[in-house]
Amino acid sequence: MTGLPRGGTKPTLAVVGATGAVGSVMLQILSQHADIWGEIRLLASPRSAGRKLAVRGEEVEVMAISEEAFVGVDVAMFDVPDEVAAHWAPIAAALGAIVVDNSGAFRMDPDVPLVVPEVNPHAARVRPRGIIANPNCTTLSMIVALGALHAEFGLRELVVSSYQAVSGAGRAGIDTLRQQLSLVAGTELGTKPGDVRRVVGDNTGPFPEPVALNVVPWAGSPREDGWSSEEMKVRDESRKILGLPQLRVAVTCVRVPVVTTHSLTVHACFEGEVTVDRAREILATAPGVVLFDNPEAGEFPTPADVVGTDPTWVGRVRRALDDPTALELFVCGDNLRKGAALNTAQIAELVAEELGATA
Ligand SMILES: NC(=O)c1ccc[n+]([C@@H]2O[C@H](COP(=O)([O-])OP(=O)(O)OC[C@H]3O[C@@H](n4cnc5c(N)ncnc54)[C@H](OP(=O)(O)O)[C@@H]3O)[C@@H](O)[C@H]2O)c1
Repeated sequence: MTGLPRGGTKPTLAVVGATGAVGSVMLQILSQHADIWGEIRLLASPRSAGRKLAVRGEEVEVMAISEEAFVGVDVAMFDVPDEVAAHWAPIAAALGAIVVDNSGAFRMDPDVPLVVPEVNPHAARVRPRGIIANPNCTTLSMIVALGALHAEFGLRELVVSSYQAVSGAGRAGIDTLRQQLSLVAGTELGTKPGDVRRVVGDNTGPFPEPVALNVVPWAGSPREDGWSSEEMKVRDESRKILGLPQLRVAVTCVRVPVVTTHSLTVHACFEGEVTVDRAREILATAPGVVLFDNPEAGEFPTPADVVGTDPTWVGRVRRALDDPTALELFVCGDNLRKGAALNTAQIAELVAEELGATA
């Protein structure tokens, strides 16, 4: 892939997983951003072939994924489960597409860059496998703010707790919360041990416990020594994006009954003393970050207000009481926009610019 033909042909884009939770938001973003793409092909499993989805104000028919579907594609965004991406992304790359993959299949591959355009855009240019990975949504919901603070203060350690929305588990997560809410709404449930579980029954969907009227201290699948896959992703991916392989990271991931937008509390330790005033200046001017922090007036980010927006929202900025080198933050980010589709679209736009595409 050396660039587009002279004369301004626009690159062909494939959206793989167009029917999913992330794919649906991707189609909205493609309809809202500058129109740099030529043909946009929508791919999904054979189950969805023939469905019509709207993008850029037009109805486009979904194609079943196949080798032929990638022929002539310049950039392919993958919003599909890990095993589907692991199989198809190398095929798309071999057929000449530059792949931007939203799954976890390639993120820690040393030959695949893990890119956040506000933090490490240069990494997108070095892609030995023709694949660029998009970080996981929990990491992405905080990393733009932390990258800005790291550039000034030098990050040394992170202690993080997440409050993750159900859409982080895809359409199945959203459906599960909505169904459980319909079972508990208007009842007296939530007052006796196990009363919610008895009404919800075995239908806990992708979660190990009922999520309505509850919080669940688990996200992902089991890893060694009691850690979850989601917690390991936050640690490993933060290290890779920031270029800090030894960064100390402690994280607990928790699922809450929010449809979309992850929240995190962050205790961030830096190389030297920090001041809240300087931290606020950095956060107020960092691209992709909104500082919304006036607790006396009841102003701080919450998922109900942040959902559907692009930036990383930061509030409750305080210096740690017992450590002058540490800050406490509350961060919110829409897990389907910056946490997934938006970051992927931004990476694809970097690639398109490299190929010479213009709106
Ligand atoms: N949800 C988030 O907050 C989030 C954030 C960051 C990254 N991600 C990652 O993004 C990816 C998609 O997540 P999601 O939440 O959008 O999942 P989802 O709602 O379950 O959607 C999955 C998509 O993959 C397609 N698909 C499934 N099996 C396929 C196959 N064998 N061949 C081709 N297409 C297939 C589905 O098509 P059909 O409709 O035809 O089944 C659907 O379009 C996952 O890797 C996830 O980990 C998700």
